[in-house]
Amino acid sequence: MKRMLSGIKPTGQLTLGNYIGAIKQFIAYQDEYEMIVFIADLHALTLPIDPKELRKNTKDLISVYLACGLDPNKVILFKQSDVHEHAELGYIMACNSYMGELSRMTQYKDKTSKIKTNDSIPTGIFVYPTLMAADILLYDADYIPVGIDQKQHVELTRDLAIRFNNHYSETFIVPEPVLSKTGAKINSLSSPDKKMSKSESDKGTIYLLEDLNITRKKIMSAVTDSENEIRYDMENKPGISNLLTILSALTNKSIDALVEEYKGFGYGVFKKAVADVVCSELEALQNKVKEIQESNVIEQILADGAQKATYLARKKLSKVYRKIGLN
Ligand code: TYM
Repeated sequence: MKRMLSGIKPTGQLTLGNYIGAIKQFIAYQDEYEMIVFIADLHALTLPIDPKELRKNTKDLISVYLACGLDPNKVILFKQSDVHEHAELGYIMACNSYMGELSRMTQYKDKTSKIKTNDSIPTGIFVYPTLMAADILLYDADYIPVGIDQKQHVELTRDLAIRFNNHYSETFIVPEPVLSKTGAKINSLSSPDKKMSKSESDKGTIYLLEDLNITRKKIMSAVTDSENEIRYDMENKPGISNLLTILSALTNKSIDALVEEYKGFGYGVFKKAVADVVCSELEALQNKVKEIQESNVIEQILADGAQKATYLARKKLSKVYRKIGLN
């Protein structure tokens, strides 16, 4: 069975972008692949974060994984910082990478462009893709389901794996990114030409665990255009196209079928339909999250997951150490 791996970092609150671009894919593939899903908590340290917030986000993230239907009997679910091999291989990957290739990462350029000129840029943001490469290569993962913003990091992982294999002989599987057919990039509701993200304006971002009255308001006031025609045209109608993408991802209906279904309807009716679907999906999710957080299952699931992940990671890291002369 081929292996699939992915993770989400517990910075900020989880968004509808994380849900559609990543989590829904994990669920869809858990029967088809040997699946490893983790909480990328070391990655959450690349920008300053309050320890209390990090703990809360971590608990929310594992609860959302479980509430969405990730089954700990099928999937290895763990917290990255519980498996110290990630940091160890991360260092080796950093030694195996070049400043040039890391400074070409779009996400690094985007994030650092938002830092004021005289403020220091944390080194963690720069080397973070090498830790992500370690996350993937430790487990011989074949496929990596991610949103489009992470594709470049998976491509860098491929380059690092090939470089290491060429230098030290065959060691790592070269992984492939897997993008959701619709929904690899969900955009902001208030600036529909930009990605919906944890750090974007609150108005444009739907948070999975937010009050659903607020969710509905955000969707009803999503920025659209002055035509009154529902069709998919990302360039000229990014707002409506983004809402079509969201509706398509959540209903599993194709965009063409939705365009046909809403032909002749105004934007108000269409937005209400999107709001109804999003809110009913999030309501069910929030109820399950509440149940999970009130039960005592989380710690045991993470402990079991960490044990299984450590077994695999230890084996791989020993092999790497042997190849490079550390033992
Ligand atoms: P992170 O935490 O920023 O995002 C988690 C996942 O959600 C996807 N995503 C989106 N997809 C569609 N539309 C959006 N608006 C949107 N926003 C986020 C991301 O593409 C991602 O798949 N470095 C990673 C976490 C990570 C990882 C890994 C992933 C660490 N190690 C190893 C895969 C394999 C990150 O910061 O994702």
